[in-house]
Amino acid sequence: MTVDLSVQLGDWSWRNPFTVASGTFAAGRPYADLWSQTATTGSADSLALSQAAPLSCLGALTTKGVSRQPWLGNTGLRMTETASGMLNSIGLQNPGVEAFCRDDLPWLARQQVPVIVNVSGHSEADYVAVIERLEQEPAVSAYELNISCPNVDCGGMSFGVDPVAAGRITALSRAATDRPLIVKLTPNVTDITVIARAVEAAGADALSLINTVAGLAIDRRRRQLVFERGVAGLSGPAIKPIALYAVARCHQAVNLPLIGMGGISQVEDVVDFILAGATAVAVGTATFTDPLTVPRLIRDLGQWCQDQGVTSLSELVGVAQLP
Ligand SMILES: Cc1cc2nc3c(=O)[nH]c(=O)nc-3n(C[C@H](O)[C@H](O)[C@H](O)COP(=O)(O)O)c2cc1C
Repeated sequence: MTVDLSVQLGDWSWRNPFTVASGTFAAGRPYADLWSQTATTGSADSLALSQAAPLSCLGALTTKGVSRQPWLGNTGLRMTETASGMLNSIGLQNPGVEAFCRDDLPWLARQQVPVIVNVSGHSEADYVAVIERLEQEPAVSAYELNISCPNVDCGGMSFGVDPVAAGRITALSRAATDRPLIVKLTPNVTDITVIARAVEAAGADALSLINTVAGLAIDRRRRQLVFERGVAGLSGPAIKPIALYAVARCHQAVNLPLIGMGGISQVEDVVDFILAGATAVAVGTATFTDPLTVPRLIRDLGQWCQDQGVTSLSELVGVAQLP
């Protein structure tokens, strides 16, 4: 039986449903080296990794957030483990769009993988400026607007919790590009479908669901909060049920392809997200535990489809509906 893992996000075809979650894969270089070594040593033959272009196994690669100017990120402790997950307070640290174009894009252009640039900013003008700069770069395939980061003061999630602000920033970004425009939403709202409908009406092509869940950690010895900013973003298996709920609700509410993420580490997680309504998935925190998670999941999803007699993933999307 031939299994077709390719998926269709609107007019855009991916060779399989897998991307990496922004901020957990840098611009891909450390993983490309490691995956290439794995291909060379043959220690994981069944992973079908190319030595020359190991990232080409991905449906698409999503970069760390890129902003108009360099961002230093947050000071103090930036990560801590939790039960079944982790909290981070990185604060969207990145060297800015010019450095990204100079240092990362020429390399990314040679990796034979579509590149989604995750865009962040303090203001509407910042988001538009990043997109306008990247429009000059043929190596960029699509944009993912991060309007959902919980651990920055200004920008980030403040756009994603208000349907008017979310719609405006989507419309302005839409006007700046004809490339696919993905908007990444936060679960830290009362009703995510209100935001989803607003960005759909403003011209988004797809939604990424979800960014991290706002959380707190306490340093008991010092009797204070662990993170200087207080709030941090929870990710990993702990948030999977929250993410599935967001995907299932948005699948009912909008007519856009959904990229599901939050706690994916096993093939069963991938299948759950697709059944809930995701067309594609992203893997983040699990890559910190096992850097080969994504290649393993690609292999395992093919095997799972074989075992289940599934010839095309489109058969499964949204089959498990909310009442
Ligand atoms: C260390 C870290 C950094 C992140 N940085 C970004 C970012 O720059 N932009 C963004 O949209 N999401 C960012 N995220 C959120 C992830 O892309 C993803 O939405 C979230 O972690 C849930 O997926 P996971 O449970 O598989 O990690 C980050 C997450 C982590 C753990």
